[in-house]
Amino acid sequence: MSGKPVVQDKAKLPRLRRLDLPMYERIYQAFRDTILNGQVFPGARLPATRALAQHYGVSRNTIIQAYDQLASEGYFETRHGSGTYVANELPENFVLSRQLSGTKKGVLKTKPPDKLWNAGKPPRPFQIGVPDMERFPTETWLKLYAKHVRSSPYSLANYELEDGHSSLKNTIASYLNTRKGVRCSSKQILVLPGSQQAQELVVRSLLRPGDQAWIEDPCYRGTRSALRQNGIKAIPVPLDENGLDVSYGLKKAPKAGLAIVTPSHQYPIGCSMPIGRRLELLQWANESESWILEDDYDSEYRYRGKPIPAMQGIDEGNRVLYMGTFSKCLFPDIRIGYLVAPFSILDALKEMQATTGSYPPIAMQATLAAFMHDGHFERHIRRMRSRYSKLYYSLIEALEKNCSDYLTIGPREGGMHVTVFLKDTSKTATIQEEAGKQGIALSPIFKYASSKDSAQGFLLGFSCFGGKQLISSTRQLKKIFETIM
Ligand SMILES: Cc1ncc(COP(=O)(O)O)c(C=O)c1O
Repeated sequence: MSGKPVVQDKAKLPRLRRLDLPMYERIYQAFRDTILNGQVFPGARLPATRALAQHYGVSRNTIIQAYDQLASEGYFETRHGSGTYVANELPENFVLSRQLSGTKKGVLKTKPPDKLWNAGKPPRPFQIGVPDMERFPTETWLKLYAKHVRSSPYSLANYELEDGHSSLKNTIASYLNTRKGVRCSSKQILVLPGSQQAQELVVRSLLRPGDQAWIEDPCYRGTRSALRQNGIKAIPVPLDENGLDVSYGLKKAPKAGLAIVTPSHQYPIGCSMPIGRRLELLQWANESESWILEDDYDSEYRYRGKPIPAMQGIDEGNRVLYMGTFSKCLFPDIRIGYLVAPFSILDALKEMQATTGSYPPIAMQATLAAFMHDGHFERHIRRMRSRYSKLYYSLIEALEKNCSDYLTIGPREGGMHVTVFLKDTSKTATIQEEAGKQGIALSPIFKYASSKDSAQGFLLGFSCFGGKQLISSTRQLKKIFETIM
């Protein structure tokens, strides 16, 4: 059907239902449902307003009103001089899943997630997101775990799952209030198996299929997939040096229901959002009654200046949900993260948490609570901050010395990777491929962006390597640049 005017086949024009609604709304809903049900594809041409008015026996103004609504919500796009089309940028998987739901098995067809880099094996040079496990106090952790299981074996036979082990919620609340500038009580915390689950929960609880959500462009890939899987239209909002460009979002999709942002340390570029921009974002959320999901995944690792307090702490309108994870500051397999939510939506989120059974094992939660309570957590963070800081600056120095003909270094706000931008933007894929052959894991920025034409460069992980190894990997990278560029 793609490309053909729908009007040519009158039988395929949507039937109008909902007699209780005004005419323009019935037409709007009929087209919206037809698109979401996969009966008309992205890119299909739509009937001219005059022809449609005749078909439905209404005035042309009524049709124009419905078309305007569909265009402003992103279902339709108008191409100057050639008519109106179903938007190309619809969440395709959602449309596809609706189509498939009528088939025998109703399987949601999506791309399988990318394979993890050599999961379980020692990390490859520049691999991202891997904490230094050699320095993790494993013995202490195991002792605390064993102590918990021995002292309360029936806690392992527990089916009464809650939104979090109460001592862990208390410890997290105290950590967030004193160290991160979050204002919350432990009652507002949901403990989840990671912050990816937190995003999923928020999206499923607060949005409906067809709604819009702002995302940073580029952004964490899990954010995009949480929206896609739930039929939400992601609105990629470009970044400038202050993070998400709120004025762009306001123009493109002022009524979006949610914005997902990483203000303390933008993922993957690395800038932080200054107060002026934060206030702009909060103002939009307050005025449009939208939500903000603040993803604070690694703010423990800032190497200069003071930690930047959370945006949640200055939110007077209760529009911000704040999420964090122990994947970066401890280790990803812990599968524990948390969501701090305004009281007004707590029950809805808890109900969704119960429905989806998103609870980390209680024994892990109790171990973590004891680990934090006894001071091991803060000690570990302090040690790691000092170690990562040294590695971070030696990697930057090595890159400046060896690779400055080929790249520039992105924002220097800390974290667990350094973002670099290539001066010659045409060879990203070739460089990544050649590096891969030589055992180097380069993550290209475009993988996180809405289009391949985004900034060209790579994320270079450093946290689990020694200083000497980083220097020799940087030299190896230089040789690759010399051969290819
Ligand atoms: C920016 C960002 N948000 C969220 C997550 C998800 O973390 P978790 O392991 O807690 O699901 C990650 C993990 O890498 C991340 O980098």
